[in-house]
Amino acid sequence: MVHTLTVRKLNLEEAAVFSNEIRSVPGIVGYLPSELVALPSMVVLEVGRAAAGVLAYTDAPDFVELKLLLVRSQFRGHGYSRLLFDDFSRRFAGSTKLMYAVTKNPIVKHLACAEGYEQSSFWALPTSCKLHQVAFMVSWYRFREYLRKRFRFPDGGAFQYWVKRPNT
Ligand SMILES: CC(C)(COP(=O)(O)OP(=O)(O)OC[C@H]1O[C@@H](n2cnc3c(N)ncnc32)[C@H](O)[C@@H]1OP(=O)(O)O)[C@@H](O)C(=O)NCCC(=O)NCCS
Repeated sequence: MVHTLTVRKLNLEEAAVFSNEIRSVPGIVGYLPSELVALPSMVVLEVGRAAAGVLAYTDAPDFVELKLLLVRSQFRGHGYSRLLFDDFSRRFAGSTKLMYAVTKNPIVKHLACAEGYEQSSFWALPTSCKLHQVAFMVSWYRFREYLRKRFRFPDGGAFQYWVKRPNT
């Protein structure tokens, strides 16, 4: 099937599909459809006419956060996350900013490690990243989702921080 990568916003119908899919994923706390529509930096992988996967990032003055990498379940196992991650890496190749990702997902770890990311603790992140993470969690929806997922996925493991410093 033909696939393309497009920098564009999701429409509300697509965002509802992704938001719903995220509800069944242990490693992403949650996004409302309206939040997904509003994300400013979004790469959409289209397979045929379907939005099959997304990669969203935050491009801040001193860091870039890989915010969301999701391939819809029926499209998994075909290397689409690799396409999205490689596109993301190319976009910031040579960047002087710290790159980081927060994840529990072994595939994201695999992709990040291959690009030279190293595990970090939350406390070792720069203050701007720590504040960014805390601000993300200040949401009634995410608080509820966090608690729901703690019970729904008791073996989900802890979030890990993966960091790539400039010039490494
Ligand atoms: C994580 C996710 C995006 C992967 O999407 P995908 O397109 O199905 O990924 P693929 O199966 O094609 O695998 C991509 C790579 O991971 C490797 N991989 C697959 N399963 C793996 C595993 N359990 N552990 C480590 N690596 C694995 C593949 O071999 C492939 O590596 P390669 O490119 O070096 O050959 C998808 O499973 C998903 O959306 N999960 C739910 C959302 C999520 O947890 N996102 C991460 C939060 S940031």
